[in-house]
Amino acid sequence: MFTFEKAAGDKQTRLNSIVNQVAHLIDGERDWLANLSNTASHLYHTLGEVNWVGFYLIKGNELVLGPFHGLPACIRIPVGKGVCGTAVQEAKTLLVEDVHAFPGHIACDAATRSEMVIPLKVDGRIIGVLDIDSPVTSRFDDIDRTALEQVAELLCQGCDWSSLLK
Ligand code: SME
Repeated sequence: MFTFEKAAGDKQTRLNSIVNQVAHLIDGERDWLANLSNTASHLYHTLGEVNWVGFYLIKGNELVLGPFHGLPACIRIPVGKGVCGTAVQEAKTLLVEDVHAFPGHIACDAATRSEMVIPLKVDGRIIGVLDIDSPVTSRFDDIDRTALEQVAELLCQGCDWSSLLK
């Protein structure tokens, strides 16, 4: 059984601890489906003030829903659409303080107010995104961004993506 300490201290310390816990969680396992599933669960239960944490994976010119925690979500998002598809098109992390002010935002859970989407890059190619939603406006800052980009990098390096990259 995997157990983790409820992170204490200031925000930076708590985020560092969450990144270390994800590293521990995926250590010794390279199956991407298993690692994305456990990471979605872990982040959902530790970040605080989040209502959806999950992954979308590129298939053709679309993002298709992957492992997540939260309410059932939209299944397919074309590249270039919504926050997720825009993050892929622009190949960078998007931090949306107020989703209602983001043109084309795709609402999956009406409670969502802010959102962060981080592209997953393997060998210079975007293979999917990590998407985190919050019911709190302006929930995410640069400390979250840096830590969650580290989580994305751990997953990109720590998984065998060959079955997806065919
Ligand atoms: N809001 C996202 C869609 C995915 S859900 O938030 C889970 C978007 O605009 O791309």
